[in-house]
Formats: sequence, C-alpha cells, structure tokens
Amino acid sequence: MKRDLDLDLVLDVRDVHKHFTLHLRGGLQLPVLRGVSLQVAGGECVALVGPSGRGKSTLMKCLYGSYAVNAGALWLRRGDGEGLDLASASPQTWVAMRRREIAYVSQFLRALPRQAALDVVAERRLQAHPAEVIEGADPLDDGPYLAALDTARDAARLLLARLNLPESLWGLPPATFSGGEQQRVNIARGFVEPARLLLLDEPTASLDAGNRRIVIDLIREAKAAGAAVVGIFHDEEVRDAVADRCVHFD
Ligand SMILES: Nc1ncnc2c1ncn2[C@@H]1O[C@H](COP(=O)(O)OP(=O)(O)OP(=O)(O)O)[C@@H](O)[C@H]1O
Ligand SMILES: [Mg+2]
Repeated sequence: MKRDLDLDLVLDVRDVHKHFTLHLRGGLQLPVLRGVSLQVAGGECVALVGPSGRGKSTLMKCLYGSYAVNAGALWLRRGDGEGLDLASASPQTWVAMRRREIAYVSQFLRALPRQAALDVVAERRLQAHPAEVIEGADPLDDGPYLAALDTARDAARLLLARLNLPESLWGLPPATFSGGEQQRVNIARGFVEPARLLLLDEPTASLDAGNRRIVIDLIREAKAAGAAVVGIFHDEEVRDAVADRCVHFD
C-alpha cells in the first residue's frame, strides 16, 4: 500500500496493535500495544517513555520488522517522497529498507561470531554502498569489492576512534568486549550510514559520561542531517539533550 505523506513527516504510526501468543501456555494472548499512534518529522527526535514492560522495545522491533504488527499501519516516507506501509511490506522490501532507510541500535550488540569489530561496523556501510558491478568486467576481479570495503572501513575507523574504542580492539570480534565497548561498536554500526529513520533502544545505557556526550552529539548531527529519530532513553540527561517530544506508554 502507498500514499503521500504530509510534508516533513518521515514516520506515521497509526493505531498499532501487537499481542504475543504464548504457545507454551495453551495459546494465551498477551496484548502489548493497544492502539499506539505517533508521528515523527525529519530532524525530530521522539522519546518513548514509560514503565518497564509496557511495549517500548516491542514497538521499536515492529518498526525494524523483527516483529509483525497485528493491526494498524507503519507509514514511512522513502527517499523519493512516497509513503510506504511497512506493516504490509514484503520481506524483500524490509531488507531494502533496513539497508538504506532504517538504522537500529539495539540495547545489546548482536554480531556474527569471529567478525572483527571494524567489519561489524563497515559491513553496514558496505550493504548500503555495495561494489559496483560493471557489465563485462572480469568476474574474478575482486578489485571493486576491495575498494568498496576500504571506503567502508575508513568510515568505520573514524567512528570507532570518535567513540574512543581502543584501536587494539578493532581487529577483534566484540563477543569478549565489555558492555560499554560492545555498545560503542553497536552505536558505530547504527551511525556509520545516514538513515532516514533512526531507532535507538537505550543507546547510552552502559556508557560513561564522556562517551554519553559523544552519543548526544551523534544524535544531534543525525537530526541536523534530517533523520527522524525514535529513542528510548532511561537517562533523563540524554533524553533532555536530544528529545523534542515524549510519547508516554502508560
Ligand atoms: N517475543 C516475545 N514473546 C512474548 N512476550 C514478549 C516478547 N517480547 C516482549 N514480550 C513481552 O511484552 C511486554 C513488553 O516488552 P518490551 O520489551 O516491549 O517492554 P519495554 O517497555 O521495552 O520494557 P523495558 O523498559 O523494561 O525495556 C513484556 O511483558 C514482555 O515480556
Ligand atoms: Mg525495552
């Protein structure tokens, strides 16, 4: 389904319902989101606020396509200005949207085993800017791929350095990193490629004050570049610094 969205609006969530079916408990239904609506313009940050267990992260996961909604619409304005209802999007559309339009910083990093931290970040950039396939080129020539990988790694290095991740860790898989180190890899991955919709689930939860300030700057820069940001920030200082509005889950 498609429609034109009002000028400036990037995300329009309309009357979303989501329940979980607990199969181990005889199919019991657990309603989590009951008629949630919110709108976010480009350059705006909306904070989801409310007690634990009220469905804030669930809404984030619906906006990233990890969970399907049971009813309602999730309108996203694409780069070409057209509105697309993600609630009824095909898996192929979701893959394309995740590559180019939507970035998600989850509370805990999930990365491929044995992938170096630098490449966890670079991969996100590479997905949005894959090596150009030139017609008639030697299929065994990996030059274009290596050039694209180099560019992506340069962007990843800049961001990891800015987030103060020690260079000695860049070549190591993040599985054994501390909570704050993993979170900074996660943040770098979320910010390495500009997104139209930026989803942040407690991005500063395990960070020290210095790194929290850097994340605040990154969020402000993303807003200035026109991103619509939906965030969960238990840290009120961070919330006050970046959020334009709060939506309460009561
Ligand atoms: N995959 C799932 N299957 C069953 N129940 C789930 C699932 N995911 C979430 N829930 C339930 O949905 C409710 C909302 O969870 P959610 O993680 O969205 O809360 P939250 O508002 O983000 O809380 P917090 O502030 O603690 O992070 C909880 O009761 C949780 O147990
Ligand atoms: Mg949560």
